[in-house]
Amino acid sequence: MLRLEGVACGYGPFRAVHKLDMAVEKGEIFALLGPNGAGKTSTIMCLAGHVELQAGRIEFDGLDLSDIPTAARARAGLALAPEGRRLFPDLTVEENLIIGGYSQPKRAFLQNRDRVLGYFPRLGERLRQPAGRLSGGEQQMLAIGRALMACPRLLMVDELSLGLMPRAIDSCYEVLRRLAREEGLAVLMVDQSTDRALEVADAVCVMESGHIRWAGSGGDARRNAEEVSKAILGAA
Ligand SMILES: Nc1ncnc2c1ncn2[C@@H]1O[C@H](COP(=O)(O)OP(=O)(O)OP(=O)(O)O)[C@@H](O)[C@H]1O
Ligand SMILES: [Mg+2]
Repeated sequence: MLRLEGVACGYGPFRAVHKLDMAVEKGEIFALLGPNGAGKTSTIMCLAGHVELQAGRIEFDGLDLSDIPTAARARAGLALAPEGRRLFPDLTVEENLIIGGYSQPKRAFLQNRDRVLGYFPRLGERLRQPAGRLSGGEQQMLAIGRALMACPRLLMVDELSLGLMPRAIDSCYEVLRRLAREEGLAVLMVDQSTDRALEVADAVCVMESGHIRWAGSGGDARRNAEEVSKAILGAA
């Protein structure tokens, strides 16, 4: 579904990611792991169109994304729950969801909202509360829910478990698993909580200093846990 060939990206003259080749398939949970500064967020932000692609090619469902602006990537079916969640804290849960589904006609929006609240019933109980007053776990659910409102075929989630209690992490992962299994959603996720990420991943790629250090299936990663952990810890 998503294919990266020789992708390099960065900031002005600085190259954060070098020659990245990877593929994410429909219905698959793909974990992108690695130490701080590895280039995980840069990769995701480049896919979303926020960081400059310096070389290589990105293909999504046969469409060449390389020169396509951010909004058109969202219309093509890519959605992002960014690092730090980036909710609108003074707006209610419902208003945050409305922003995620802004491009849809009202009927489709309402159906879609019910679908998202079906996955996250906790959000349904807090529709009129300001997003800034939710717990950390509920905020992450809202960030994922808001991204799902655009009906993506590929969802990118950066730092899913950052600052969350184990139970909240588990419920977010459970929803991602169901979405992958039941709707064929492809999930590309970055997480510092690598044990949990490795448990659910169908495919794993470990980056360090902008290069791939390890890549394989989730099964391979679990069988070679020691080697993968070493790669995740990095050279330092
Ligand atoms: N806005 C920016 N301008 C310049 N350099 C940046 C910018 N954002 C990130 N970088 C640099 O790009 C490299 C990769 O950073 P990136 O944020 O992609 O890493 P990461 O793997 O997501 O790390 P973390 O686990 O800490 O979130 C780092 O050397 C970082 O300093
Ligand atoms: Mg990051």
